[in-house]
Amino acid sequence: MINIAKNIGTMMIALGMLFSALNANAHTGATGVVKQRMDAMSGMADAMKSMASVVKGKKAFDPAVFIDNGEVILWHSETLTTLFPEKSIQGDSEALPAIWQNWDDFVKINERTKSDAKKLVEMAQQGSKLRPLTKQFVKLSGGCKACHKGYRKKK
Ligand code: HEC
Repeated sequence: MINIAKNIGTMMIALGMLFSALNANAHTGATGVVKQRMDAMSGMADAMKSMASVVKGKKAFDPAVFIDNGEVILWHSETLTTLFPEKSIQGDSEALPAIWQNWDDFVKINERTKSDAKKLVEMAQQGSKLRPLTKQFVKLSGGCKACHKGYRKKK
């Protein structure tokens, strides 16, 4: 039990770092497909933040928060890779050329994010408790992080 608590503590620190990184965005000046994917990403970030406030105990536990926001992420991840046509890094884009050099890996990380979001929704629908939902939420956030690490410019 103590170990699980410790792990969740560590995961929360990692999450804090993730979300502070998410707050900075480069929206100004973006157009076309770059703007479209920034909007999609921002939508996913908002969904993650809503769930994070429950995970961190700032808001009361309600399974609907995980169902609704998990579905937002699932929905965006259905089409996310179509918003990355070859070499679309114009304007303020933070996308790296590595995306198109490692396209299969990029798609794979997105598929993982999609299935992690789907599982989170299903768990919440089936009446899962907060602790397993938290673990699944952290797993899901690992997909955002993994993709940004390899394919998004660092500030
Ligand atoms: C398959 C790869 C991939 C996945 C998965 C992914 N992202 Fe991104 N994300 C990117 C890339 C690439 C960019 C930079 C896009 C650009 O600037 O053209 C980005 C940009 C962002 C931005 C900045 C948007 C802006 O306005 O500039 C936010 C916020 C973000 N992602 C949140 C998330 C969250 C939250 C998740 C997980 C639920 C996630 N992303 C999953 C690749 C990914």
